[in-house]
Amino acid sequence: MQTEAPINLGQHHQVAMVGDLHGNGRWASHVNKAAAARGVSLLLQVGDLGVGPWPGESRSARRPFGGFIRGLDDDLGQRGQRMIVTIGNHENFDALDDAPRDDAGMIIIGEHIRVLPRPARFTIGGPPSGTEDRLGSTASGPGSSVIRSFGSLGGAPSVDLFHRKVGKSWWMQEQITEEHVAAVRADVRANHSVDVMLSHDAPALTPAVSRIVDATPNPWPPEVVQYAERGRSLLSEAFHAWRPTVAFHGHYHVRDTAEVHGGVTGRPFETPQGEPFTCRVESLAMDGVLGNAVLLDINTLDVSPLV
Ligand SMILES: [Fe+2]
Repeated sequence: MQTEAPINLGQHHQVAMVGDLHGNGRWASHVNKAAAARGVSLLLQVGDLGVGPWPGESRSARRPFGGFIRGLDDDLGQRGQRMIVTIGNHENFDALDDAPRDDAGMIIIGEHIRVLPRPARFTIGGPPSGTEDRLGSTASGPGSSVIRSFGSLGGAPSVDLFHRKVGKSWWMQEQITEEHVAAVRADVRANHSVDVMLSHDAPALTPAVSRIVDATPNPWPPEVVQYAERGRSLLSEAFHAWRPTVAFHGHYHVRDTAEVHGGVTGRPFETPQGEPFTCRVESLAMDGVLGNAVLLDINTLDVSPLV
């Protein structure tokens, strides 16, 4: 959890919510362009961004996180946009661990790109004043009359880890840990629930996610299935603690909207916490597919299609 300063991302009437990008530079630029056309300067990305370097790339002063991140940073800068990332599982975690952090604990991977610590709480909104936000760009648009709280807990288990190379294309830091969940519980005790939760893995089993998880024949060995369930279980605990009104995630590459009920007994890993609550879960599709990005209205928390 960030400790130094609370993160405030400034005043925005609406923001873009972006699913997995997988290092797809052309598609990322397409998303940024579509957001810019709608006057949106802040993009919240929910992991599998494609932080490198990846095999075939070497770390250099100009490209410490690979060519995709460098190009994305330039593209965002040209459009006056910033991207705030909830980490996924396909990211170079060693490069992220070595990266500098700002005074709120956010990892600096570009002039216009920050990766949120795990977990993180931040706010968006408030009356318009034209002041600068934390990333140094003036917020555009009419602002929002309300301040929305966001909780972010990135990471997810890779089900294809046996086909990957440790330290080259797979990193154990991808896992969500007991410590992360304990930090979320401490955050709830200090700051109460959040309006919006961001994660890479699914915070709850919606019908669309269940169909993918339960797909038969399942190609993954039992220990991998168990590893994946453990990750969802820990994230589910964070979800039930944060009690969000809306939750966004991308890991399953499917665009879907579903209402789920928290605080009630469900699947074994859905640990009830406190009073029942209802959350609208917005699953986002992957790069190259319609439904990869939506607009989130900060006042109403409604979403509308973007890309
Ligand atoms: Fe992905």
